[in-house]
Parts: sequence; C-alpha cells; structure tokens
Amino acid sequence: MILDGQQASSIQAAAQALAQGRLLGLPTETVYGLAADSDNDAAVAQIFAAKGRPANHPLIVHVANAQAITRYAQEVPLFAQQLIDAFWPGPLTVILPRLPGAANASTGGQDSVGLRCPSHPVAQAVLKACQQLTPPVWGVSAPSANPFGRVSPTTAQHVAAEFGDDLLVLDGGACAVGIESTIVDCTRGVPVLLRPGAITRDDIERACGQRPLSKEELSTQAPRASGTLLAHYAPNAKVRLMETRQLQAALDILGPDAPALAIYHRSPLRSTARQLQLRAMPASAADAARQLFGDLRALDALGVPLIWVETPPDSADWEGVRDRLQRAAAAG
Ligand code: TXA
Ligand code: MG
Repeated sequence: MILDGQQASSIQAAAQALAQGRLLGLPTETVYGLAADSDNDAAVAQIFAAKGRPANHPLIVHVANAQAITRYAQEVPLFAQQLIDAFWPGPLTVILPRLPGAANASTGGQDSVGLRCPSHPVAQAVLKACQQLTPPVWGVSAPSANPFGRVSPTTAQHVAAEFGDDLLVLDGGACAVGIESTIVDCTRGVPVLLRPGAITRDDIERACGQRPLSKEELSTQAPRASGTLLAHYAPNAKVRLMETRQLQAALDILGPDAPALAIYHRSPLRSTARQLQLRAMPASAADAARQLFGDLRALDALGVPLIWVETPPDSADWEGVRDRLQRAAAAG
C-alpha cells in the first residue's frame, strides 16, 4: 500500500509500523529504502529475507540527527565528526566502531556500524516520529528497496512493483540524488572511500583535510559490503560500457541490420540501424545520477538483449555514476 508521505497521519502510521516490527518502504534523498527498527533483530531479519540478501552484508542504520550516534557507535574520530558536521543530514554514510550489543542483526555482528542521517523531509519526519515513541525507536535500518543485486528504486512505484501491495510504502516523490550514499569507513585512522556517491572525494577532502583512500589502497581486507560487489545494479539486459569512438565504430560496422539494442549515450551518434533505441544521458553528473536507475529500468523495459552505455567522464564528480555503470556492466 502506498501512502502519501506529505500527510502527518502517514508519518505516524509508518512510525507505528516500524515500532511493531513491520517493514516500510522509506523515501530518502538517495534511493528508497526497505526499513525496519534497527534494534529489533526479528524485523531486521525480515529485510534480509525480503531482499534475498545474504546475512553477512551489513545494513546502514539511519538516525534522525547526530545525537543518536552515541546509541550505536563507540567513538567518533575527529575527521569523521568533521564529515558529519559538513554533510549531515545528507547522502553520507560513516562506518564507525560499533557499540557492543547495538544493532546486532543489522551489522551481522561486525565490530563496526554504518550510520547515516538522511535529509529527505519524509525520512526526517519518520525518524523524528520514531524517536518520540515510547519506547523510542532510535535507528532505522534500511538497505535499498530492491531484490539483492538488482537496480535500486528511486520512486515509490518502483518499490511497490518489487515488493507488492502488502508492503507499506511512503511516497516521497522521485529521489533528488538518485544513487546511494557515499560510504566512508572511519574505523581505520584515515578516511577510506568504500562507495562513491554524490559527495565526492573532493568534497570529503575539503571537509576534513584528508583525501580519502580507495579500498584498493588498503593492505588489509575491507569489511564486506554488497554495494561494493562488482556485479550489482544489474538490469536483465547485458550492459556494456564503451568509449565514444568505440561506440561509433561499432555502429558503423553493424550498419542498418544491427541487432536490437539500446544505447545510453552522451555524444551525438550516427547510425542507419533500424532497431536502434537511443536514450540520452543527462549532461551534468548530478542530473545523470538522479536519472540513472530510472533510465536503466526504462532501457531494460524496452526488452532489448543489449544496452550499450557511453562511458561517462573520468572526473571526481562522475565517480558515483561511473561506479554504478561499471557494476551493471560487470553483472552480465
Ligand atoms: O543511500 C543509501 O545508502 C541507501 C538509502 C536507503 O539510505 N541505502 C543503501 O543501503 O544503499 P544498502 O544496504 O543497499 O547498501 C549499504 C552498504 C552495503 O554495501 C553494506 O554492506 C555497507 O553499506 N555497509 C553497511 N554497514 C557496513 C559496515 N559496518 N562496514 C562496511 N560496510 C557496511
Ligand atoms: Mg543496495
């Protein structure tokens, strides 16, 4: 059932559902989440079951404000605090040392916990309403509301289409950011970028004075993170990333009888192919992120076996979009 997230009664119904151990489709500024009370292990287990997600892939705990951190994290390093001050509420997840016993099922018993304070007004309203319940719900665990490995949802309708009418979904409109939060591991003494997003490496460096390392730059194994699995965000069609020239050359060779295929492109392309479906990628990184998952769904819905994607620019602001496209391509 989809409820209007603008209505105060919907917010109360959502908070009650969470307190009763039920699942909720929750809009955030990044993507929609499949939410449950972080401290209710049985409810959190239902998230894993509904998504078909392996139990050893930890979930992010969403909080109403930075004060709630102390319920879940043992300590906050200075650079993590600087990132929180700069970007919360917003599309940033920090991994911190976990307070023993907190959010057990969400973290899969790991000694760290991922925390995020979303800025979407509906998410904020739900988290605040949760804090005001007796007893309060301090944290809401929410992975993206898609079956494991599939494209993330950016509208309430995407969520309802995946999980059916029994799930309570709050409609908060189309997500403004469109790709999942930037994840920074703050448990290693220096910031480590686990997942790129709208908050870029440059933004992180400006806020805390340190350029984040990449996972690959760490000698030790980073904690498992499904958003960091290579084959993720997969449409049904095979996705292939191609440079502009490669793309044009392939179209020239194929000519008018090219097989049915869709192209998600940035540059103007020439082709005589009869079965070609073109879709333009927005020119700015922020617009491209906002539309990415919806466009992948729309391209997939064309029923073509192949989607060729023109590789986005190699700059910091495009890193999140590039990352999601590389994973969609790896899945094929
Ligand atoms: O934007 C977002 O972050 C969305 C919205 C709903 O908030 N949520 C989201 O959740 O993308 P999910 O579960 O699809 O991705 C969360 C990522 C996973 O890759 C997970 O493994 C990682 O965060 N993660 C969570 N806790 C972690 C921890 N303690 N250590 C390392 N990675 C962690
Ligand atoms: Mg996900």
